[in-house]
Amino acid sequence: MVCTFAKAPHALPLAGHVVQLGARPLDFLHTLPELADLVELRVGRAPVLIPTHPDLVWQFLRESRTFDKGGPVFEKVRTLLGNGLANCMHEDHKHQRRLMNPGFNPRHFEGYAQAISDSVDEVTGPWRHGMQVQATDAMIAITTRVATKTLASDAIAEQDVRTLPELFGILNRTTYRRVVAPFGVMEKLPTRANQRYLQARSRLWRIADSVIAHHRAHPGQHEDLLSRMLEARDPQGEGLTEQELRDEVLILFTGEVETIGSALSWAFYMIAMHPEVEDALQREADQVLSGRVARFEDLPKLKLAARVMTESVRMWPPVWLITREATHETELGGRNVPQGSILAYSPYMVHRHPGYYERPHSFDPDRWLPGRHEHLPRGAFIPFGAGSRICIAEQFAMLEATIILASLCARWKLEPLAGAKVRPVPRMLLRPSSLPVRLTER
Ligand code: HEM
Repeated sequence: MVCTFAKAPHALPLAGHVVQLGARPLDFLHTLPELADLVELRVGRAPVLIPTHPDLVWQFLRESRTFDKGGPVFEKVRTLLGNGLANCMHEDHKHQRRLMNPGFNPRHFEGYAQAISDSVDEVTGPWRHGMQVQATDAMIAITTRVATKTLASDAIAEQDVRTLPELFGILNRTTYRRVVAPFGVMEKLPTRANQRYLQARSRLWRIADSVIAHHRAHPGQHEDLLSRMLEARDPQGEGLTEQELRDEVLILFTGEVETIGSALSWAFYMIAMHPEVEDALQREADQVLSGRVARFEDLPKLKLAARVMTESVRMWPPVWLITREATHETELGGRNVPQGSILAYSPYMVHRHPGYYERPHSFDPDRWLPGRHEHLPRGAFIPFGAGSRICIAEQFAMLEATIILASLCARWKLEPLAGAKVRPVPRMLLRPSSLPVRLTER
C-alpha cells in the first residue's frame, strides 16, 4: 500500500523527541495519526519510523523476518531478561516457540484457572469491609500469586513472592528510562537508581535459577509451565538449554505479573468511573457466581466481564510501544527503509485512532458486542501484537483477567477514595498511578 509520510515536528537538535517521549508520550502519540500513515520521529539523533495506519501496522507486524526484534526497547530488555521467546531474533524464534507452545495448550487452562481462583482467595482472604487498599498493588499481588503457581507450582519461597512486585516495579521504571535516554553513559554511573536496578535484577535472576533447580530435582512432580518447558523437545530431540530456560522463566514471570496486573487495575478504575457498567457487572457476577470465585466452567457466561477486559486493553494496552529493526533494506508504505533502521508500533495509538473507533477516548464495553466490531481492520486492535510474534499467552491472559475481575465483583466493590486522581504512567508497561480504594463487602 502507498501511504502518506511525515516527520514529527519539534525535534530538538541532539535529543530529538526525547522530551516528548519522556514527559508526555501518550499525548505525543495521539498527534501522530493526524500527521501521516507513516511518521518519522527521533530518539536522540536516531530516526524511528512509526506506522499509524492499521493496515500498515498489520503489514509491518506480519513481516517479522524483515522487521525483527531490535531497537532500543529490545536492547535494554535483553540486558535484563536475556534472549527468551519475547526478545529473541527471528532465526531463534521458531525453535523456542515450538518448545514453549505445549505449556499454553488450552487443555491445561482448567488447571491454570484453578490456580487463578485460589490466588484470588489467598489475596482477598484478609480483606475486611471498610478497609482501604491500593487497587494497583492488590492486582499485582494476585497476578504474582497466579504467576508463581502456574509457572512453578509454589516452588518460590513465600518471602520471594512478597518481594517480586517491588522488583518488577524497579525494573519496569528503570528500563524505560534507559530506553528513552539519548546517551548510554548515565546507566553506567554508580547512582542509587542504577544500584537498585542491578540489585533487583540479580535478585530476580537468583529466584529464576532456584525454581529451575527445584524442578530439576523433582522431575514429573508438577503440572506447570516450567515442567512443560523442561519436558519439551523439538523434532531433533533437543530441549531448551540451561540459559534458554532461565531466559524463558524470566520472560514468563514478567509477562504474567505486570501485564495482567496493569490491565486489571485499569479495568477497576474504568468501572469505578462508569457506575452503570459496574452495576451490570455485579449483576452478571451475582447471577453466575452467587458470591463465590469464578471457575473455568463459568467463563462462557461471564460475557460482560470479558467485554470489560477487552475494552480496558483497548484503551489502556499494557504493552503500548515496541521497537523493531530492519534486517535488510526494504520498503514500508512506499518508502525506502535502509537496513538497520529502527521502527516502532504502538497499540495505544492505533486503539484510539479516530478513523476506526467511534468516540475512541470513551469507555464502552458494548462496542465489543457481536455485530459491532467485525468491521475493524485487523491492525486496529492489537493489544497482543500480531503475526508470528503475537503473545503466546493471549487466550490465557484474557481468561485470567476475566476470572479475577468477575470474582472480585462478586464479593467486593472497590470505591476510589474521594479525590483520588489516577494518571497513566507509561514506562515499559502502561500502568495507572496508584489507585487507593475503600472495600465494600457485597
Ligand atoms: C494482558 C496481558 C498481556 C498483554 C497485553 C500482552 C501483550 C503482548 C504483546 C503486545 C506481545 C508482542 C510483543 C512484540 O510485538 O514485540 C507479547 C508477546 C509475548 N507475551 Fe504477552 N501479553 C500479556 C500477557 C502475557 C502473559 C500472561 C504471558 C506469559 C504467561 C505473556 C508472555 C509473552 C511472550 C512469551 C511473548 C513473546 C511471544 C513470541 O515472540 O513468540 N504475555 N505479549
